[in-house]
Amino acid sequence: MAAFNTLDDLADGQRVLVRVDLNSPVEDGVVQDNHRFDRYAETVRELADRDNKVVLMAHQGRPGRDDFVSLDQHAEILEEYVGKEIQFVEDIYGDDAIAAIEALEAGEILLLENTRMADDELPEKAPEEHAESDFVQTLSPYFDAFVNDAYSAAHRAHASTVGFALELPAYAGRVMEAEYEYNTGVAERARETEGQVTMVLGGNKSEDVISVVNNLGDAIDTFLIGGLPGELFLRAEGYPVGMDVGDMDLLDDQWEETKDTLEDLVANRRDEFELPTDFAYEDDGERAEIALEDIEEKTTGYLDIGHDTIDAYVPIIEESEAVFVKGAVGVFEDDRFADGTVELIEAIGRTDCFSVVGGGDTARTLSMYGLDEDDYDHISIAGGAYLNALTGQELEAAEVLIEQAD
Ligand code: 3PG
Repeated sequence: MAAFNTLDDLADGQRVLVRVDLNSPVEDGVVQDNHRFDRYAETVRELADRDNKVVLMAHQGRPGRDDFVSLDQHAEILEEYVGKEIQFVEDIYGDDAIAAIEALEAGEILLLENTRMADDELPEKAPEEHAESDFVQTLSPYFDAFVNDAYSAAHRAHASTVGFALELPAYAGRVMEAEYEYNTGVAERARETEGQVTMVLGGNKSEDVISVVNNLGDAIDTFLIGGLPGELFLRAEGYPVGMDVGDMDLLDDQWEETKDTLEDLVANRRDEFELPTDFAYEDDGERAEIALEDIEEKTTGYLDIGHDTIDAYVPIIEESEAVFVKGAVGVFEDDRFADGTVELIEAIGRTDCFSVVGGGDTARTLSMYGLDEDDYDHISIAGGAYLNALTGQELEAAEVLIEQAD
């Protein structure tokens, strides 16, 4: 376990600045509820119940993107989960923010505006430089402690993730603690496990899958591949899948970028992974399936692995001692195309194996389809940070916390 200072080391009744990660999908300007809210609610409630004045910082989207919106909706959603009022101020470190911070009573909670609306936030800089920014220098004197719970943003060296830890006594929140322990521990756990170790790899990016296969190849016995990378691996084997059709713009560019590596993997390491043998697609509004062998030319998008593939993958999971998931194998947000992701995750849940499930929004599958979180050792709510952990890359904001620990 990492040598963080944690909330167990933090005295009660303090002025606490807390970085959480409420970055969420936004559809038509509406912030979508997701697992991040209920996870962070636990840290926030604990801090408020311990009579702290709790000030939350978080980001949403990036400048220039449609999901770059205010955090006012986040405050309302989080409030439901915390069960206490979450005040919101449309300011980050200006006069309005300072006034709202100073007016807080013990046990009260305030959310500041989207940190990425501050010019100081985004440039990737060393923690020491961020610590000197106006953002960090202005806010720090109003607090006794900084809690970083934003594991899923810990791969970003931004002012709010790395700067405050140098100016204030710094602690890891509950989410940071658990995520760091399980996700960073995947490789070691996989190497130590004596029986079958399996990893489900899906999502949208073949580059991510290649990076995991290259970094964990020695530790994982079988990779079960789906999602868009599944199609791209099959294209590397010469099948007529893995290309864009219609106005799709998801596959051809990645193919150009990764085809040499994919061809090398299928030529030299084919025994390490399983690939789909059938796919699901939309036909007249319904789910339909087609066997890989029957595809002469790709004319439609494939949105899930088919049931023959599921039937081949599930027994491998059932005989595993440890199973890790990175990414969904289909478009699970649409229930017609959720079978692959849900049935594989269900199989993990009923198997007596060590399990970590994560990658992008994959955690959402559990709440959407009524799966029991207790059937898994850890459900990660991180995307890029989870990938970094799996591939052994540093999470700068977590490293800063460790360096600052007693
Ligand atoms: C995430 O949602 O994975 C994190 O909040 C990081 O967001 P970013 O990729 O926009 O930096």
